[in-house]
Amino acid sequence: MKMRTIHDAEIQGKTVLIRSDLNVPIENGVIQSNQRIVSSLATIQYVLEHGGKVVLFSHLGRPKAGEYDSKYSLLPVAQDLSRLLCFDVPLAKEYMQGILPEGQCVLCENIRFVKGEVENSVEIAQQLARLGDIFVMDAFGTAHRSHASTVGITSFLPSYAGILVEEEVQALTKAIESVEKPSLAIIGGSKVSSKLEVLGHLSHRMDKIIVGGGIANTFLAAAGYAIGKSLYEPDLIEEAKKIMKHTEILLPKDVGVVKEINEASIVLYKGIDSLEEDDIIVDVGMLTSAYYADMIETASTIVWNGPVGIFEIASMSYGTEALCRAIADSRAYSLAGGGDTISAIEKFGIAEYVSYISTGGGAFLEYIEGKQLPALAVLECR
Ligand code: 3PG
Repeated sequence: MKMRTIHDAEIQGKTVLIRSDLNVPIENGVIQSNQRIVSSLATIQYVLEHGGKVVLFSHLGRPKAGEYDSKYSLLPVAQDLSRLLCFDVPLAKEYMQGILPEGQCVLCENIRFVKGEVENSVEIAQQLARLGDIFVMDAFGTAHRSHASTVGITSFLPSYAGILVEEEVQALTKAIESVEKPSLAIIGGSKVSSKLEVLGHLSHRMDKIIVGGGIANTFLAAAGYAIGKSLYEPDLIEEAKKIMKHTEILLPKDVGVVKEINEASIVLYKGIDSLEEDDIIVDVGMLTSAYYADMIETASTIVWNGPVGIFEIASMSYGTEALCRAIADSRAYSLAGGGDTISAIEKFGIAEYVSYISTGGGAFLEYIEGKQLPALAVLECR
């Protein structure tokens, strides 16, 4: 993919509009994880160091357009940015009237409060473009959205990819396009239907795929195993069989089962061919974890999205923790992405041992489904 990047831009003396993804989890005004803010700093600092002024845009959550709602205000983000950058980053509220506060770096209030942002309105894109001289797209996590601040604006300003977008694309290309073999994908989660396109795309690219969670149950059923009362999707058994023809799907050999899913349930481990009618699979066992660890050890490239059990419940987290440890110990190039995956990485403290952790949720998934992300596509042609 050939995109013009920030390194190609003349920045000195210019006002640079940066679209970042500062959509971080906030509870009662307190940021729960500032990973996306920290990942956005490199581009901001690059512009400042090259003599530019920064006007930053982001969305936060999915507020109703046209109405201010303090729950979705970017104020906590402006405060965190001020702390991280060691100078005041004011929050601009009247930017749609062309009014910006003084400052070398200002953050515009939630762009999704603006009617027409999500619809990619030409007028809104034009109005935003009037606030600066150059546009830098650094919101990898929002690159799958065709909105005024991600796509529309590129019709009105010279546009470049930011440092985070550049890093993300490099990491994804290394793991999915120019893969060093043997390659292994680990795709977990509750439903095959939500990962069908990912599985379809990766089955043509990766040598082996570990399937976990509810997804594994559908594959187990497709392979003829009795899976008791475990969650699975009967309609997708034929699809699962097709995927199994393209690539080697690594199925669990033993699993943790319960009779009812709750924190107090006793987890029993059983061979995959000895489940009872009322068993519910909630985790993978020691045999499977050792088998996965062997596969991980011999892989040169690993792409990981989704846990292999209900790891939020301590007694059902054995397999996901073992998987994390194996990835941390491996010398492979490892790429991880997706909300649950990042929670597991944080829970088991392995972030520093993963080669690259994507900031994208939906955008990461669409990329590994083989889809073109519209906000990156426009940077290629302009
Ligand atoms: C995300 O969290 O995946 C991105 O910020 C995109 O958010 P959205 O799904 O609300 O567009």
